[in-house]
Amino acid sequence: MQNFDYKTPTRLIFGKGVIVKLPEVMSAFGKKILLTYGGGSIKKIGLYDQVRELLKDFEIIELSGIQPNPKYDPSVLDGVRLCKEHKIDVILSVGGGSVLDCSKAIAAGACYDGDPWDLISYKVKAQAALPIVDILTLAATGSEYDAASVISRTETNDKIGYIDPVVYPHTSILDPTYTFTVSRKQTAAGIADAMNHVMEQYFTEDTTLLNDGFCESMFRSLMANGRKCIDNPEDYTARAEMMLACSYGCNGILALGNSPSGWPCHGIEHALSAYYDITHGEGLAIITPRWMRHILNDHTLPRFVKYGINVFGLDASLPEREIAEKAIDATYKFFESIGIPMHLREVGIDDSRLDEMAHHIAVNEGLDHAYAPLSEQDIKEILVASL
Ligand code: NZQ
Ligand code: ZN
Repeated sequence: MQNFDYKTPTRLIFGKGVIVKLPEVMSAFGKKILLTYGGGSIKKIGLYDQVRELLKDFEIIELSGIQPNPKYDPSVLDGVRLCKEHKIDVILSVGGGSVLDCSKAIAAGACYDGDPWDLISYKVKAQAALPIVDILTLAATGSEYDAASVISRTETNDKIGYIDPVVYPHTSILDPTYTFTVSRKQTAAGIADAMNHVMEQYFTEDTTLLNDGFCESMFRSLMANGRKCIDNPEDYTARAEMMLACSYGCNGILALGNSPSGWPCHGIEHALSAYYDITHGEGLAIITPRWMRHILNDHTLPRFVKYGINVFGLDASLPEREIAEKAIDATYKFFESIGIPMHLREVGIDDSRLDEMAHHIAVNEGLDHAYAPLSEQDIKEILVASL
């Protein structure tokens, strides 16, 4: 087991109706709030009005229109400007992972005098960030319980996972009923995203019985409850378990003591959504089975066998290679069965920029250090197989 130094400082407030605690949470920071949200879903579900009513004694400045795959320009830059202009005390993010990621970058940028891209691109280490509270409306990324902020810069085709402990949310308010209205497409993408977060931590070295069991339980829970959420969007128990599972996905708790894995599927997918602005979870679902098939060899075989037996209940007496192949097929079929388009062409990506993307990924993502190292040629082959 590897050494580690671990802390997740975020307070989670979970369950039906817990929003009543919002005024108490916000009052710890001062009166001036930057309220951030996306394209309007929070208004449709009545959450916007509820928040404004609960916070009627506060001074609220708004930043709306934050898009999926949140953009540095204009959203992060506008948010930083508003924070500085209005001397904001705290940011309240209401929405999915994109709104929260954008809010995290704003929080750090607001406490920095230079160009916020210096922080996101790791040129300068942030010394501080404004406190962040979030009300999550979509279960997927785990951003509500981690220190990551994934920001896109359109003109350079960059999508960077900016990770910095200063941007952990102070408090995340998680009411599964807010996720009832998430579309079938976004629910499926969320399941695929969270499952891939677990895979990125499961397929690695130095694993333990403890972490493997945690990951395998996550896979089973996400598949069983995810399917229930697709079939019956208002199944509270399923939405609740999915929401909690997603929160565990990205803050490292599943892999404490494991070797780093390199997060290869995320490295590849971030380029896809940087170049084509596709939905993150769909890109992951398309890449994952092709990546699995590509890295299956004598060295990785035992992990796939364990995955096949413990996650999909495959017959342990079968030849190992057969178990591994069946496990990869089962992964593909699961994503397909929840309605995810399983080819890049179906999400608008053809072969015209594959070389450029493979090069971009190889140069920027460092996947030659992954559990199963990937060269530029390997990345290209995975992309071609995903078409
Ligand atoms: O913009 P609005 O109108 O709010 O609509 C959103 C958006 O169109 C909608 N939505 C959200 N909650 C809803 C709802 N619609 C109906 N009812 C609700 N309750 O869903 C759409 C997608 O929202 P988005 O926030 O983009 O989805 P998600 O939470 O999956 O976030 C994806 C982003 O997170 C990044 C991804 O790369 C992508 O940019 N990630 C962040 C990570 C992190 N911070 O740790 C890790 C992940 O691996 C991932 O990279
Ligand atoms: Zn992800």
